[in-house]
Amino acid sequence: MCGIIGYVGDQSALDVALGGLRRLEYRGYDSSGVAVVGAGALRTVRRAGKLANLEKLLSEGPERDPMPGTTGMGHTRWATHGGPTDQNAHPHTDCTGAIAVIHNGIIENFAALRAELEGIGHELTSETDTEVVAHLLEVELGNAAAAQAGAVPEDVAPGGPAASGAAGVPVAQHPLTAALRRVCRRLEGAFTLVVLHRDFPEVVLGARRNSPLVVGIGQGETFLASDVSAFIAHTREAMEIGQDQIVEARRDGVTVTDFAGEIVEGRRYHVDWDASAAEKGGYPYFMLKEINEQPTALADTLRGRLSADGAIVLDEERLSAQDFRDVDKVFIVACGTAYHAGLIAKYAVEHWTRLPCEVEMASEFRYRDPVLDRSTLVIAISQSGETLDTLMAVKHAREQKARVLAICNTNGSTIPRESDAVLYTRCGPEVGVASTKTFLGQVAACLLVGLYLAQVRGVLYGDEVAAYVERLQRMPDLVGRTLHRLEPIRELARGLADAKAVLFLGRHVGYPVALEGALKLKELAYMHAEGFPAGELKHGPIALIEPGLPVIVVVPSPRGRAHLHGKVVSNIQEVRARGARTIVIAEDGDVAVEPYADHLIRVPATSSLFAPLVTTLPLQVFACELALARGLDVDQPRNLAKSVTVE
Ligand code: M6R
Repeated sequence: MCGIIGYVGDQSALDVALGGLRRLEYRGYDSSGVAVVGAGALRTVRRAGKLANLEKLLSEGPERDPMPGTTGMGHTRWATHGGPTDQNAHPHTDCTGAIAVIHNGIIENFAALRAELEGIGHELTSETDTEVVAHLLEVELGNAAAAQAGAVPEDVAPGGPAASGAAGVPVAQHPLTAALRRVCRRLEGAFTLVVLHRDFPEVVLGARRNSPLVVGIGQGETFLASDVSAFIAHTREAMEIGQDQIVEARRDGVTVTDFAGEIVEGRRYHVDWDASAAEKGGYPYFMLKEINEQPTALADTLRGRLSADGAIVLDEERLSAQDFRDVDKVFIVACGTAYHAGLIAKYAVEHWTRLPCEVEMASEFRYRDPVLDRSTLVIAISQSGETLDTLMAVKHAREQKARVLAICNTNGSTIPRESDAVLYTRCGPEVGVASTKTFLGQVAACLLVGLYLAQVRGVLYGDEVAAYVERLQRMPDLVGRTLHRLEPIRELARGLADAKAVLFLGRHVGYPVALEGALKLKELAYMHAEGFPAGELKHGPIALIEPGLPVIVVVPSPRGRAHLHGKVVSNIQEVRARGARTIVIAEDGDVAVEPYADHLIRVPATSSLFAPLVTTLPLQVFACELALARGLDVDQPRNLAKSVTVE
């Protein structure tokens, strides 16, 4: 959800914050704001609407005075509490205007805290949950100052230098850090907070619980951000911040402590992509770039997955082969597009391993009390690694002693850290809100996990696994060739810009592909779109068919299970008989569909379980082109955000 950047160094904090926000805007774009500490003052500027509104205000409006200072922060918002107005935009300040706070997440007990603050005379001016944090800090700093006259509070050394010490050792810290720690202990819910104080330009603080925060470590400068893209133009050295931790960032480094005040070591890592990977590279939209990057994203995800002795290689494995052999059922948890990748995985996992596999929307998983134990494997799929619904499902699974394997695109994110094993999709940064290349990466990763399970459990022979992997490694080439032949679907999409609705049908792995096609169209073109199992249609939804309604049908290979193909061909005839305009996605050489296709989109032939890697492509292109024909912004569709860090 919201994008956050904090900075302390030698550069203009405003420039760094705005540069970071441009890269983070995909996380939320309802409003934005900046704060800078300099020349003994704290200045904040914020504006409803996209970042361009804030930039305009800063360059042309009454706020155009320069904001001098080399300590600052910026925020781009996806509204939760309070609408997307100037007043609700972050940063939020306390009564004195000395403290500024930005926040990602939801503070669940904010109403009680707000009532308490108002009861002691604080005036809160927004409808947000965030603002209470600025006022609570004001209270804590006031209490500390008062106590300083008498006894020093337990973990405060007022005005003292930033502490250093060994991990696990309680230390005295900056007064702002100590105050933030006491505030964090009172907060319930999920939060990443970044805090500035007018009188402490030497530090910028961050805190996190169930919400992302990474540190960028430069030469004489330090960054705090929701993700590395915000500071990748300045440094590729990063540090993870763990759950319930506070980072005190200074020019010369950081001190990380937990909410109890003990020093902890953050894990440092090098980011293996550079700023150009998160730029449009000549494309008008990130989505178009990311669609075209799919062959590379897939190839990178699959590279080096087969060891010299023929075993599949995961990235981080904190489980033994015996743990995997003990697995007697598999759950896949994920949201949105990642959930669709999970639905595809089910077919492969059950076929290859003969283990029962259930796929569950992460937001529902823990509420239905699933039966989990030590021999359950839960596969959590998440591009961002920060989706709170998926993270909570992971935590629930681990509490029940299940083993958790994460499939994730973001190194250093929370879900892989909370899991027992990880397989990274190496798709590079995905900026467009609609997932495209990471969906392909997730499908490929799921197939690898299915093969891995089959291998360790001895269900498939080593040479069988190797043969599958080798065939999978030929898929990027097929994906590239498919992308080069999609002009007919672009043209068709442009002609359907005024359609009211589109239905998507599929069977077997074509069904999740149909769901994904419908999701893409809903989120990008704001059209009514539904995906159905082709066979289910006549149990009700067929009543939706009316003359001219576009129905896209994903047809399985006739070389796969013959009866499956034949059934789908019958389903095409059923909808066509009722007046539907049929758009048929079928492999080269499938002549049986020709009489019933008003529009025929050809894709290269491939094996049944790998087919989604090509049949999804025309649906991505269809939704993107149709949305563009409607004049919509495909990178930042309304009401959405790339990373959903609230439940
Ligand atoms: O980061 P995640 O993969 O966990 O995100 C899950 C969904 O929010 C995401 O797949 C969403 O549905 C897509 N961006 C839609 O295109």
